[in-house]
Amino acid sequence: MFNNTPSAKGARMNAEDDGDDLPEVQKAPLVIDVEFIEVEEETTAPMLDAVDEISTARARPPLDLPAGLPTPEGRARVVTVINQKGGVGKTTTVINIAAQLALRGHKVLVVDADSQGNCATGLGVDKSKVRATTRDLILNPETAVNARHATAVDGLHMVVGDRSLIGLEQEMLRQLGREHRLTEALEPLLQHYDIVLIDTPPSLGIVSVNALVASDGILIPVQTEYFALEGLAMLAGTIREVRGLLNPKLGVDGVMLTMHAPTLLNQQVASEVREAFPELIVEPAIRRNIRLAEAPSHGIPIHLHDPTSAGGQDYQAIATVLERRWGLV
Ligand SMILES: Nc1ncnc2c1ncn2[C@@H]1O[C@H](COP(=O)(O)OP(=O)(O)OP(=O)(O)O)[C@@H](O)[C@H]1O
Ligand SMILES: [Mg+2]
Repeated sequence: MFNNTPSAKGARMNAEDDGDDLPEVQKAPLVIDVEFIEVEEETTAPMLDAVDEISTARARPPLDLPAGLPTPEGRARVVTVINQKGGVGKTTTVINIAAQLALRGHKVLVVDADSQGNCATGLGVDKSKVRATTRDLILNPETAVNARHATAVDGLHMVVGDRSLIGLEQEMLRQLGREHRLTEALEPLLQHYDIVLIDTPPSLGIVSVNALVASDGILIPVQTEYFALEGLAMLAGTIREVRGLLNPKLGVDGVMLTMHAPTLLNQQVASEVREAFPELIVEPAIRRNIRLAEAPSHGIPIHLHDPTSAGGQDYQAIATVLERRWGLV
């Protein structure tokens, strides 16, 4: 279904890097020179094979990212925003999509599963006043109702993540049914919301797995920089495992492009991702925009900080697409 063309650039050898310039004394013991001589002894045919290999690699089967299923009637859709690559715009996406949907009248809950706890800052929640956090929610699901906090946006509640999540991975190793704790905790809350968005850390540990097990769908922000697709292969593997072992309904609700700038590299990576996931891509790409980076320092989302900025417009447009995709309108 998808037409993934992962770049083979990383696998290409630099033809000039053949060691010819190295002084004799350094050249002799290098194993790579032995391999190089072996290749040189071959006729031209294997060279052609090598070229074929690269083009075959470029056309290898697509990354298997299955689409999400519709939300069961009468309860919130749970969506995890995830990419194990750091700094790609996960938190910015959670904050601004959640806020935009709440401003449109939907009931939204944000669960911050990242120990950095940036969602609270960006949504104007004073962390020093918070009594129960995501860690409490996961360890004591019965605290769910009291773990929610009001934010700077009406109709948008959140469960705050903080440093206490750091030790949780270790603590949970000893627990039975550890992958299902967040699912259990969210269960009583789902009837009160239209959408639950979970922000995740830049890692694929047990807390992220809890988020995936609790979710109907996944939203993947991809920064349009080199290595974007390579990172997704690892995430696709995790999704496959979670689907196979823990949550067969888990699917991908969208792949979105973030921090997009009009450079040649950004454009090339964007077209690669668009080609790879034609059905899953959510347009438009979010432009790189300083107003998005500033907003958290004021404790408000972009739509309260500067709604007409490029970032404000892009997140509004994305929210419109997702609103339809999630059956909220
Ligand atoms: N479109 C954008 N334009 C400019 N700056 C952005 C944009 N999106 C995010 N940023 C900034 O880039 C930085 C990283 O973004 P963000 O925190 O959302 O990424 P993340 O994937 O959640 O990071 P982490 O993996 O550490 O949790 C932040 O300082 C954020 O304000
Ligand atoms: Mg983050």
